[in-house]
Amino acid sequence: MTGPAAARWHNLVQGRLDEMERLQPGRGALGPAFWDARATRFASRMSVASAAGDPFYRRLRRATRRRSTVVDVGSGPGRFTLGLAPHVASVVAVDPSGRMLDLCRRQARGLGLDNVTCVQGRWDEVEVAAVDVAFSSYVVTLVADGAGFLAKLDAAATDRAFLYLGAYTADAVLDPLWRHFHGSSRQPGATYLDAVGVLRELGIRPEIEIVEVASRVRYKTVAEAAKEYRDQLCLPDTAEVRRELRGLLSHWLVPRGDLLGAPLKSVPAAIISWPAGRRRPAGAGRTGLTTRSPLNL
Ligand SMILES: C[S@@+](CC[C@H](N)C(=O)[O-])C[C@H]1O[C@@H](n2cnc3c(N)ncnc32)[C@H](O)[C@@H]1O
Repeated sequence: MTGPAAARWHNLVQGRLDEMERLQPGRGALGPAFWDARATRFASRMSVASAAGDPFYRRLRRATRRRSTVVDVGSGPGRFTLGLAPHVASVVAVDPSGRMLDLCRRQARGLGLDNVTCVQGRWDEVEVAAVDVAFSSYVVTLVADGAGFLAKLDAAATDRAFLYLGAYTADAVLDPLWRHFHGSSRQPGATYLDAVGVLRELGIRPEIEIVEVASRVRYKTVAEAAKEYRDQLCLPDTAEVRRELRGLLSHWLVPRGDLLGAPLKSVPAAIISWPAGRRRPAGAGRTGLTTRSPLNL
């Protein structure tokens, strides 16, 4: 940890993990078993095909060439790994969940890709060779040592590093449901602005682009949605909870064609990027402003 932003990050993420553990003891608070259990559902929603229309994929394509080497940290089943692999020299997919990586390997084989390597482990515990481009999508807010994670992401690449994360917390949408069941609001999580604070403390001046990402979540039935919301809301699997959730969700969800969807059609996300491996010494240019204008105090 380096300074107040890193400490704030740690407290936000750890507070949330502790809350999850308190509400559902032994659930694995976002460890490999947690993601193993959710891998198949995640892969069906976050498919390689879905990545093609994603603003982050388009940004990664612009940042890479045929000869680029890439690492995808917390790849999951590999929507971005597999989308990029046909267009670059190689991609290393890192993830602690064996099930996520099985799905990534299987899809790579199906697509005839032989330039994808899967490395199982948390980012802080694996060793990978330096690459041109390192990126991580929707992972860092799960990691209490955000500063260590981001410093290693920066050090892993020689050209550019990218982070992709929500710019609007799902908690804001879910808050009425969370309060209904738990009696108070959820412990706040770390946001993309907190990530920018940690990067600045590390001597990195990132560029930030806010993009709009279509919500892909669709349910065939209210019962299917209730199962997923029960998971998101950290609720016990009892007949009473299922019944109550089905009742609330039948008013909450909105029709999307023949299916049901969450209230928001799209959500903003942040693409944060910087030239990798070029951190400035701590304290240099703290404001990020370069002029000596009287306003630069
Ligand atoms: C929400 S999914 C995101 C998957 C993928 N990046 C995407 O955007 O589709 C989070 C993934 O991060 C992985 N993960 C969690 N903690 C990690 C860590 N410390 N290092 C690397 N991966 C991690 C999980 O196993 C899971 O597959």
